[in-house]
Amino acid sequence: MVVETVVVALWAMGPAYIPNNAAVLAGGGAPIDGGRTMGDRRLLGDGKTWRGTGVGIVAGVAVAYLLNLVAPTVEAVGYGVPTFTPVVAFALAAGAMLGDILASFVKRRTGRERGTAFPLLDQLDFVVVSLGLVALLAPGWFTSVFTLPRLLVVLVATPLLHLLTNAGAYALGLKAEPW
Ligand code: CTP
Ligand code: MG
Repeated sequence: MVVETVVVALWAMGPAYIPNNAAVLAGGGAPIDGGRTMGDRRLLGDGKTWRGTGVGIVAGVAVAYLLNLVAPTVEAVGYGVPTFTPVVAFALAAGAMLGDILASFVKRRTGRERGTAFPLLDQLDFVVVSLGLVALLAPGWFTSVFTLPRLLVVLVATPLLHLLTNAGAYALGLKAEPW
C-alpha cells in the first residue's frame, strides 16, 4: 500500500531528519576543524561546530526513543512501523551529521564559501550517509526496513522535506540562507 510505504519510510528516517535542524538551533561555539585550513581554504568552516553536532546527534537519538514510545499506538492503527535499537538510532543520527560535515568538506574543496548552496548535495548528503551507516552497523535492520520502494520514497521525499523545512527556518529568521 502506498500510504503505508510512505509512512514507514519517513518514520524510519525520523531520527535522521531532526539532527540538522537541531544543529541549526544549537549551533555556535568552537568549529570542528579548529580553524585549520587545507590549501588556502578552511577544512570545514565555521558552520560545523562541536555543539551543533553533539546536540544534533542527541536530538536524533531522542526522536528514535519517542518514536519507539508511540510505535505501539501507530501499530494499533494498522501501520507496521519499525522500532529503533540504540545502535540504529545512533547510526541514523550520527550519519546525518557526518553526511552534512562531509558535504562541507566537499564544498570547501570545490571553492564554495560557507553558506553557499550545492543543489542535491545539500538535500541528500545526510540521507546517503545515515543510510550507509545503518547498513554498516545494523545490516539486518537495514535490509528488513529499507525495501526498494521505501528507499525510493526516501530519496524523492527527503529533498522536498529538506527544502520546505529550511525555507521555513529561514522565514522564521533561524537560518541565514533558505537552503
Ligand atoms: N551547525 C552547526 N554544526 C553542524 C551543522 C550545522 O553548528 N554540524 C549550525 C551552524 O551554526 C551553521 C548552521 O547550523 O551555520 C546551518 O547549517 P548548514 O547550512 O549545514 O551550514 P552552513 O553555515 O551553511 O555551512 P556550510 O556551507 O559548510 O554548509
Ligand atoms: Mg548551509
